[in-house]
Amino acid sequence: MSVTILVGSQWGDEGKGKIVDILSEYVDIVARYQGGANAGHTVKIGEDQYVLHLIPSGILRENVICVIGNGVVIDPTALLDEISLLESHNIKVDGRLFISQNAHLIMPYHKLLDSINESGDNKIGTTGRGIGPCYIDKYARKGIKIVDLLNKKALEEKIRKNLEEKNNLLKKVYGHEELNVEEIIRQYLEFDKTIDKYIKDIPSYLNNSIAEGKSILLEGAQGSLLDVDHGTYPFVTSSSPTAGGACTGTGVPPNKIDRVIGIVKAYTTRVGNGPFPTELVDEDGEKLRKIGAEFGATTGRPRRCGWFDAFLVRYSAMINGIDYVALTKLDVLSSLKEIKVCVGYEIDGKLLKIFPTDSERLNAVNPVYETIPGWNLDISECGAYEDLPQNTKNYLEFISKQAGIKIKIISVGAKRQQTFIIQ
Ligand code: GDP
Ligand code: IMO
Ligand code: MG
Repeated sequence: MSVTILVGSQWGDEGKGKIVDILSEYVDIVARYQGGANAGHTVKIGEDQYVLHLIPSGILRENVICVIGNGVVIDPTALLDEISLLESHNIKVDGRLFISQNAHLIMPYHKLLDSINESGDNKIGTTGRGIGPCYIDKYARKGIKIVDLLNKKALEEKIRKNLEEKNNLLKKVYGHEELNVEEIIRQYLEFDKTIDKYIKDIPSYLNNSIAEGKSILLEGAQGSLLDVDHGTYPFVTSSSPTAGGACTGTGVPPNKIDRVIGIVKAYTTRVGNGPFPTELVDEDGEKLRKIGAEFGATTGRPRRCGWFDAFLVRYSAMINGIDYVALTKLDVLSSLKEIKVCVGYEIDGKLLKIFPTDSERLNAVNPVYETIPGWNLDISECGAYEDLPQNTKNYLEFISKQAGIKIKIISVGAKRQQTFIIQ
């Protein structure tokens, strides 16, 4: 029995989907704990590629049960599309997917408000999936939950009440056309037919499973620096991707967590706006984007690329309590002659002791770099630590020391077999 939290340790897209797929061979249950269809988790199996947005990446292993926890916000249309897509690939979902009754529903007005908020100045660069507005309603105690789908009368009342307010806002504040109340009610009153069979009391299910000795993997979405509390606010998502969010987002208590695994990319990327001290806006950045195929799995947007930031990962390891790390995309660095690693930040010639999360300060820092020789050899076929060139080993040793992390899993390509454990 064990419960493992898997967290993205940078700004998302670290390769969580791939590592969840690898680890799910050894677990009974995989549960998503926050975020929504803003996530895009890629799993490559042979020549097939799957991008999961809401359903845990464990769905691709037939013996694994998948759970969507209360911390997740669910767009029913996106969910049903994802289920259909999986079923069209002969992946069984019924009986293998359970959804918390307490997860909140993304409504059409959430997506519309997300796009309206992003049309002015001060853009966050969101994925446009309605995530922020849905969490706003959750915390304002106006949200509509999965369980509400089962009570048609109450659901209709809640939708009417919400739409009265939202249509007022749309018309009076944004000068936007009102949304059609009856059409939305009709659409949402139908979802119980397709979603009912997945609804479950997830805290009881997960805690009973732990008592029965089952192993559980709690799959984080986004990344720690996108956390609404610990990230680079306001350029963050509206949930808690950090390890703490795994407990509140599923109902698994902290004393049942055995370990936290951080997924760390061998360099840094970010999609959307916000500070990024080690960003490369030159040829090296282009090279990383091209070789690493750094384009958003959800929106297709080019990802901003930059050097490994050990100061940032050290902070991430602290707030998550990372026990060990799976380091991904090491192969992408192979053709670089020299590789830079950020070992700290300075402002006005003074080294910072603490990672600054406020955006203004983070925008003002100068990264301090150390330069490491590259290895200029293809490592994508390496199957063990011993197979890696000496310069690659030097790079791993250097970043482990600077970031204060223990690297235990290495990924040198998108496929399952391009992964090994450091013994
Ligand atoms: P996630 O959101 O953290 O699951 O990451 P994404 O799926 O958005 O982005 C990671 C991308 O890198 C995907 O296209 C993966 O197939 C790919 N990938 C994962 N690990 C590796 C690796 O070690 N090397 C290479 N070259 N690609 C990888
Ligand atoms: P995975 O799980 C990378 C970013 C968006 C934007 C900010 C807020 O695939 O790693 P939102 O739509 O959440 O309100 O957008 O967060 N973002 C991600 N960046 N990977 C993700 O998920 C992301 N999910 C959200 O680009 O900057
Ligand atoms: Mg992604």
